[in-house]
Order: sequence, then structure tokens, then C-alpha cells
Amino acid sequence: MSISFEGQVAIVTGAGGGLGRSHALELARRGAKVVVNDLGGAMDGTGGSSEAAEKVVSEIKESGGEAISNGGSVSDRNGAKSMVDDAMEAWGRADILINNAGILRDKSFSKIDLDDFQVVVDVHLMGAVYCTHAVWPIMREQNYGRILMTTSPTGLYGNFGQTNYGAAKLAQVGFMNSLKIEGAKNNIHTNTIAPIAATRMTESLIPEAVHSKLAPESVTPAALFLVSEEAPNGVIMQAEGGRFSVASIVENTGAQLGVDATPEDIASNYDMISDLEGAKPKGMMQINLP
Ligand code: NAI
Repeated sequence: MSISFEGQVAIVTGAGGGLGRSHALELARRGAKVVVNDLGGAMDGTGGSSEAAEKVVSEIKESGGEAISNGGSVSDRNGAKSMVDDAMEAWGRADILINNAGILRDKSFSKIDLDDFQVVVDVHLMGAVYCTHAVWPIMREQNYGRILMTTSPTGLYGNFGQTNYGAAKLAQVGFMNSLKIEGAKNNIHTNTIAPIAATRMTESLIPEAVHSKLAPESVTPAALFLVSEEAPNGVIMQAEGGRFSVASIVENTGAQLGVDATPEDIASNYDMISDLEGAKPKGMMQINLP
């Protein structure tokens, strides 16, 4: 089976470098027309220039592909709308949205300034919300859409100094969990990627010796599968140096202790309540009635 994006239009946010650039180049190589969005700022989100996005557009065009640049900020409602408007004006469709733009403002929670918390939530969570909100009616009208969130192992599992980033990243999974249900009848599938790659964001964390094994290009196949026609709906796929796996929120059987259960009953049955053997994911929110 070969996966093609011929005739499709893709919007990739934060595609001026790192993972987004890699996704945009490969989408274009496989036939998609691409809006390359990037604010072009520093890793903490300050500053901005359209140069990074324009450079990727040139790379795509030099290889015979079609692309346009957009320098809007995902955390600005008008900026988010502008990239969808650009896609519609140039090509009249929007089939794929990859919410990839991101920044870091790492600090332990005891030292964090609330503005540094807010700005990270604004870019990662609200940025994904604004871009998705702008493209959603078009995808519904088309009866086709593929949306990808970008979470992080920090969101799934936590990391010292990244409360803001982790909260914003896992919030994208919560956003996906309901979008996958709301979009299903219009063939809009929403998935999430949890990557690890050597980019400017991780250059201080990942030793140089393994950079070549963790190239962004090794993550892109998972991203492209998750926005293809064959994509599942509502999956979190981890991609890390050629290893691909699925992460999931699961629920165990627990223990039925009755409506009169006391805190002491919880304590004495905690082993059974918390035993994850045989735990399974759920299709959607359900209330387990007694
Ligand atoms: P990167 O720093 O190379 O790419 C992020 C891009 O987003 C930059 O080009 C930046 O200019 C752009 N950007 C930032 N704020 C923006 C805004 N408001 N509007 C538009 N563009 C904006 O870093 P990388 O690693 O490629 O990150 C891509 C995504 O992957 C991010 O969401 C990041 O959190 C996520 N991620 C990366 C991991 C890694 O190992 N590199 C691990 C887990 C998640």
C-alpha cells in the first residue's frame, strides 16, 4: 500500500524547523499542497520572523512541490484563522491540520511565573484549539478531515520543571478525545503524536552522539500515517528513533464496595482498586451504574 496526499491541502503549524518542517516536506513530496506556518520566534516564544517558514516553502518548491508560507501565531485567533484562509484562498480546501507549533518556558513549579505558565498553555493548547476551530467547519462541509495533535512524553508521564508544558500537552489529548467523537460522522479523524526527536527544543537534553538516530524524519512516518486516509481515530502514537507504539488511558475493573463505602474501606481494598492487570481503554465516557 502506498500513502499519497495527491490533491489534498495540508496546514502544518510551527513548520519552519524541527518536526514541523520534516512533516511539511514529506507531505509535499507525497503530493500535498502545504501551508507552512511558523511564527519564527525563539524557543520561549519571543520574537518572530516569517523567514523560517519561507525557507521551508523554498525547499518544497525546489523539489517540485507546492507550498505557501504563513507567519501567523497559533496563539492569536486571527493568526490561526489566517492560515486556514490562506489555504482556502490558494487551493479551496483544507484536508489536514497538524498542530505542531510549540514553545518551552521550563521552570520548577515553585519558581514559575504565572505568565510563563499561561503563555505555554496559550501556544500549545489554545493554539491547537484556535487552528482546529478555524478549520473544523471546512472539514465538516467537505466530509473529510485529518487533524493531528502533538503531545509529549512530559504530558503523558510528567517531567521535572515542565508543569506548564505537561499540562498544556496532555490537554491536547483531552481535546482530541471529544473531537474524535464529534468528527466521526463527517469522516474527520483526530489523532495525537507523542514524539521524541533531536531538534532545537531538545538540543540541551539529547546528547549529540545520538542526534542522527533521533532525527525528526524518523517521527514523520507516524505523523503522516495518522493524517492519511487510512488513519485511525483517537489514537496516541509514540514515535522515537524508529520505535512506534501506542499510549492509552486505561481503566481497570476496580472493586464494587457499595454506596456506603468508607475511606477505611478504600484503604483496605486499595490493592484491588488499583490493580491494573487486565485494564483496558474505553471507547468513550461512560458512567458505570451500580
Ligand atoms: P522546534 O522549536 O524546532 O519547533 C517548534 C516550532 O514552532 C518553531 O519553529 C517555532 O518557531 C514554532 N512556533 C512557536 N510558537 C509558535 C506560534 N505561536 N505560532 C506559530 N509557530 C510557532 O521544536 P520541535 O521539537 O520540532 O517541536 C515540535 C512540536 O513537537 C512541539 O509542539 C513540541 O512541543 C513537540 N514535541 C517535541 C519533542 C522533541 O523531542 N523534539 C518531544 C515532545 C513533543
